[in-house]
Amino acid sequence: MKRIAIVGAGGMARTRAQALMASGEVEICAVASRHLSTAQAFATEIGCATYFDDYRQLMTAHPDALLVEVPHTVQDEITGWALEQNLHLLIGGVLAANTETAQRILNLSRSRHRVVEAGFEARYDAVWIAAKTLLDSGELGDLVAIRSLALWGGDPKSWYYRQEDSGGMPLTHMSYCFINPIRWLAGNPHAVSAFSNRKLHTAPGLLNEETCVANLLFKGNVLGSLTAGFVKPGNLPAWTAMFIGTRAAVELFPLENGVGHLLFYRGDQCECRQFESADNPFKVQAAAFLASLDGSNQCRNTPADTLDDIRIAEAIVASGRQGCTISLVSA
Ligand SMILES: NC(=O)c1ccc[n+]([C@@H]2O[C@H](COP(=O)([O-])OP(=O)(O)OC[C@H]3O[C@@H](n4cnc5c(N)ncnc54)[C@H](OP(=O)(O)O)[C@@H]3O)[C@@H](O)[C@H]2O)c1
Repeated sequence: MKRIAIVGAGGMARTRAQALMASGEVEICAVASRHLSTAQAFATEIGCATYFDDYRQLMTAHPDALLVEVPHTVQDEITGWALEQNLHLLIGGVLAANTETAQRILNLSRSRHRVVEAGFEARYDAVWIAAKTLLDSGELGDLVAIRSLALWGGDPKSWYYRQEDSGGMPLTHMSYCFINPIRWLAGNPHAVSAFSNRKLHTAPGLLNEETCVANLLFKGNVLGSLTAGFVKPGNLPAWTAMFIGTRAAVELFPLENGVGHLLFYRGDQCECRQFESADNPFKVQAAAFLASLDGSNQCRNTPADTLDDIRIAEAIVASGRQGCTISLVSA
């Protein structure tokens, strides 16, 4: 059994605690949160008897690894501390709030031989895996263009909407839907030209980039257009990605917690592929993380790889603010 401690007691701490426990190989040994009452309620819910309002006390429960599910700037402080304690890390979302901190995590993970996995579960999602298989097989022909749309109705009272706490919409939201899985399929972009606006919630301190369009140029002159943001009126279906090749195209409809479906367009056929029997991606990622602790697996969102999600998110912000195209190829 692996002893896993958790910091944070919100929505994603619940999702991932369940995913870790579903492996049958985990004991949640302690929970910490900002408020003792939330830590206690969450710990009780998952059958854990030890809880704190200070994450530093988690070490008294002798964990092997830490699940971190807190706002991103708080996360940076906790991940640095945890690596200094020689804990392995599963991080709820993006690796860090900026590239500088991400580089520090990468260095610490290497020098201390710790596993660090960023929480982009798409790379463990049957829909994205099937799309990757199609692209790798060459069935789409020469890749021409990529288009994605990911709108989420953000709560202006939550930390997600506070620029300082989240690090901004492109870092928080666009990195995971869908810069991270698109890079997995098409490689890293070479250049970015982006635009952003804020129309719905504009009070001081809230997100600078509420909605963003990023045009990305990938290897092989593949053109990408990614739209993401926190304005989502009504039940608008707005969670999709499309890969267009010279011979065929694939359109993905992933789910935020579960496995969606895809449409494969070839000739005059449109084939719908469902993945009802596939495992929940959070469970698959949790199992991959646990296997990597024994060295029997390599996770898919390593610090070295996922640093690029942050670089690209920062370039999107810089491009929009400066009104210029930014090259992502090192000189
Ligand atoms: N992969 C995905 O699909 C996905 C989706 C959504 C979010 N995420 C990521 O998941 C992570 C967690 O998001 P969430 O939606 O679960 O957030 P959330 O529901 O708002 O919960 C945040 C938790 O952090 C705790 N917290 C805040 N400040 C703290 C501090 N100083 N010390 C300790 N705990 C503190 C809060 O504690 P109290 O309750 O005690 O105040 C709360 O329990 C983020 O990294 C986010 O980007 C990933």
